Amino acid sequence: MISQFNGVNGRQTGARHSDDPFNGFFSQEKIASFGKNDLLDARARRVFDLTARACEAGVYPYQIPLEGRSGPWVVADGRELLLLSSYDYLGLLGDPRVDEGAINAIRKYGAGTGGARMLTGTTDLHQELEAEIAAFKGTDTALTFSSGYAANLAAVSALLAPQDRVILDSFSHRSLVDACRLAGVSLQRFRHNDMESLHQELRSGAPANRTLIVVDGVYSMDGDICRLPEIIEVKKEFGCFLMVDDSHALGVIGATGRGTDEHFDLPLDDIDLWTGSMAKAIPSTGGYIATSEELGIFLQHAASPYVFSAALCPPAAGAALAGLKILQAQPERLECLKRSADFLRDGLRGLGYDVGLSETPVIPVILGDDPAVAFMAKRLRDLGVFVSPVLFPAVPLGSARLRLCVTAAHSHETLEIALDAFRKLKQ
Ligand SMILES: Cc1ncc(COP(=O)(O)O)c(C=O)c1O
Repeated sequence: MISQFNGVNGRQTGARHSDDPFNGFFSQEKIASFGKNDLLDARARRVFDLTARACEAGVYPYQIPLEGRSGPWVVADGRELLLLSSYDYLGLLGDPRVDEGAINAIRKYGAGTGGARMLTGTTDLHQELEAEIAAFKGTDTALTFSSGYAANLAAVSALLAPQDRVILDSFSHRSLVDACRLAGVSLQRFRHNDMESLHQELRSGAPANRTLIVVDGVYSMDGDICRLPEIIEVKKEFGCFLMVDDSHALGVIGATGRGTDEHFDLPLDDIDLWTGSMAKAIPSTGGYIATSEELGIFLQHAASPYVFSAALCPPAAGAALAGLKILQAQPERLECLKRSADFLRDGLRGLGYDVGLSETPVIPVILGDDPAVAFMAKRLRDLGVFVSPVLFPAVPLGSARLRLCVTAAHSHETLEIALDAFRKLKQ
């Protein structure tokens, strides 16, 4: 595995960040045992070996610091780069109305709340944001958290117990796996978007009191959409519950950006709870659960991140509220996002790249081999295009990829620049 980073097509280029991102750490002779009783055990060996090799080859692709605002163009490594892996789907990061929302919130409430939501951390701004999310999503109520990750932990761990089980799509986000661990439930995974496999899992496994099916609305590594109408049928057939993480769907799919239910034109009653992030199309940080009134009241008292962790900070709440209002006032951003995503996806396909299952602004360029992806990301940076590699274990072994995300701020002209770089790499 380690040696794979040596000499993939041979070319090594030096850029400032890749020159030495760990300040010489990997150039020193070190003796580490990685024994099973060491704090850094065998799992660390793999991380250290791969990181060292990537640094040595000058292709370490992560944590490249942005030297200013994010957007379609960023400054990193001392130069301007076209950023094509940001979750800012609606192109709202840096929008003055969003900044104003954050600044006004700081002026009125300060930078933090000094408490958890349950205690002294609730402000009327949180309540306004939650009412706005619930109204947009069409649920009775919504709760906010300091991240989408925390929202997922909150939902699963508060509602379920070790005698219950979760049936999770195998491509679902890591936070959902961690949520199941925290809840202590038994976890069964079905093959991605495969209804036969979902059936099989529901028929097998240890007996459980309650079963919760959990899926993502839009899958963040592949850019495809969950088969929600069929999943609802299965949920009804087996008498279980359903939770959808709409982090990459809210503000992205559906005629008005309401997410997966709107995309399929489905009534909301069949989904017990929605979770999501406000660090994607909603240009802030934070997460939410949108659900029924009774579940909402229960979660306010039983969800650990609501009770034992600081409230979403006011500037993040102010920015999220502003973002949500812009989404509703300017639905044309969704059309623009779709056009740009279709343009890039078609262009990449035309060049012969494997864009997998993508049907949304998340567009993987699947190369298969980890080192090939790291080298390709480096070559793209050399050509002025900044994209994120996604390697095993974030995706199955042998399906390493560049994960591109189009935003409404990417014009066709800008995307032509990206396509030109991809074209050069095919030559
Ligand atoms: C599907 C999904 N759920 C949850 C999260 C976590 O959201 P956050 O970054 O707000 O913690 C992510 C983050 O990328 C995600 O892709």
